[in-house]
Amino acid sequence: MTDTMRAIVFDRYGDPSVLREARVPVPVRRAGQVLIRVRATGVNPADGKWRSGMFERSRPLRFPHIGGYDVAGEVVAADAGDLAPGTRIVALLDVVAQGGYAEYAVVDRGSVAVIPDRLSFEDAATLPTPGLTGVQMIEEQLDVQPGQTILLTGATGAVGRFALHAALGRGARVVAAVRAKHVAMAEALGATRAIALGEGVSAEGAWTGAPFDHVADTVGGAVVADLCRRVRADGRIRTVSTTPIPSDGLPVAPVFFGVHADAARLAELARAAAEGDVVVEIAARLPLAETAEAQARVDAGTGGGRIVLIP
Ligand SMILES: NC(=O)c1ccc[n+]([C@@H]2O[C@H](COP(=O)([O-])OP(=O)(O)OC[C@H]3O[C@@H](n4cnc5c(N)ncnc54)[C@H](OP(=O)(O)O)[C@@H]3O)[C@@H](O)[C@H]2O)c1
Repeated sequence: MTDTMRAIVFDRYGDPSVLREARVPVPVRRAGQVLIRVRATGVNPADGKWRSGMFERSRPLRFPHIGGYDVAGEVVAADAGDLAPGTRIVALLDVVAQGGYAEYAVVDRGSVAVIPDRLSFEDAATLPTPGLTGVQMIEEQLDVQPGQTILLTGATGAVGRFALHAALGRGARVVAAVRAKHVAMAEALGATRAIALGEGVSAEGAWTGAPFDHVADTVGGAVVADLCRRVRADGRIRTVSTTPIPSDGLPVAPVFFGVHADAARLAELARAAAEGDVVVEIAARLPLAETAEAQARVDAGTGGGRIVLIP
């Protein structure tokens, strides 16, 4: 192993053109961390938001910064007696530390799950951010109970698919609000009911059923506001979107939440993915050198599929 590695870095906030390939030092593992040889990195919508400077005030990055926070690969080094070199793992990296658009990455042991034999590195790399976000929204933020009716917006997106799977697994009824062109897909994924959102469809008129117990939102903005008015006054609205939902006239205020690392839930997601219970399609596999192209495509929307980079 050499002391330096290939990575995609940026030195200032901006559009995908700020990304450049560089040779940088291999990150140094501290006690309690794992050094990974990265084999696949998932590209998330959030990657472009961090790159653009959206979170500059609340969580500034240090430059040069390596983006990419969903990695799958092999253990190079870990604490003595823990994960053996070569063990296949998947992890959610800490954003403000060094990321995974690189040949190597370090991650806290508590953010790591072992990949089941049947799951490829590429499929594993689609899991951490969307999977943990979707599951945490349903299980931690909403504590969805059997028989409850949940409104889930963007249910065919990456986060939405995992939220749908988690909510159905808890015995909830899920009303999936998606673009008109995704209604059939939402039904195929098992939504109890799928309705069209936006694109000239009156959201208010689209739902005349009983009030929702809770709302799980992955879309944000005014387009979901009418439907959110149908939540019970004692219900909750949780959103992961950085586009706020206008709160005028809503029975309860929408609350934003951010994903956090969770090794046990990540292991469970990897098991479910290996069994084929929940799948995020891979929209494209691109070499690491094409990170800017990958981010531009994700910024424009990939229809719920994930782009995976191969270093
Ligand atoms: N807070 C957190 O910790 C956290 C974690 C993960 C993700 N997020 C955020 O959550 C959002 C979803 O992430 P993702 O990975 O699931 O993205 P994704 O895979 O691109 O899915 C987004 C879904 O929402 C749909 N959508 C977008 N705009 C819409 C609109 N105006 N009306 C109806 N449907 C719309 C998309 O449809 P089309 O594909 O047809 O556009 C797609 O199905 C992103 O904003 C992401 O940054 C936040």
